[in-house]
Amino acid sequence: MNWRKLRTFLLTALVLCLIPATRYYQIDLPLLRFLRGSNHVDPLSLHLAGEFVENNLGTEQRADGSVTVRMIAQQYLFIPHCILVPAGVPVHLRITSADAVHALTFNGTEYAVKVLPGTISEAQLQFPRVGEYKTVCREFCGAGHYAMRSEVKVVPPEQFPALHPDERGNCEAQ
Ligand code: CUA
Repeated sequence: MNWRKLRTFLLTALVLCLIPATRYYQIDLPLLRFLRGSNHVDPLSLHLAGEFVENNLGTEQRADGSVTVRMIAQQYLFIPHCILVPAGVPVHLRITSADAVHALTFNGTEYAVKVLPGTISEAQLQFPRVGEYKTVCREFCGAGHYAMRSEVKVVPPEQFPALHPDERGNCEAQ
């Protein structure tokens, strides 16, 4: 028996067993998170935990007056269906997909944001004038693609309320 070969074989077998073991007990998750970066998100648990849970979606005003808008794209709608943003302030958009690849566009603007499952897409937007913009999916994403649309209502900044979470997806309140 060649001891060197046996030692190499045993070491290789040990390493091959250890890799699935770390996956099973998920002790490698912090390392995986680090490697994937902060823009990684699990598309299967969006509604359950993390940044994109339901009461975190919509428009949130920051201390400096700018707003953060969080949305989910999924077959075949954008959530929230209607969002309110103040006119003339920077809008930091954070959006991810629960399933297919989508593209969020705002009619009447040049903005187009590709939305992929597993990743948070970020974009800096600004709507100078009060009004309504239809948001339309411009990436073919399945049978309901052509009906995948929602809207943004741009309201005067002085009227923009410090939105209660319940009002964030609710354009009727305006
Ligand atoms: Cu979503 Cu096309």
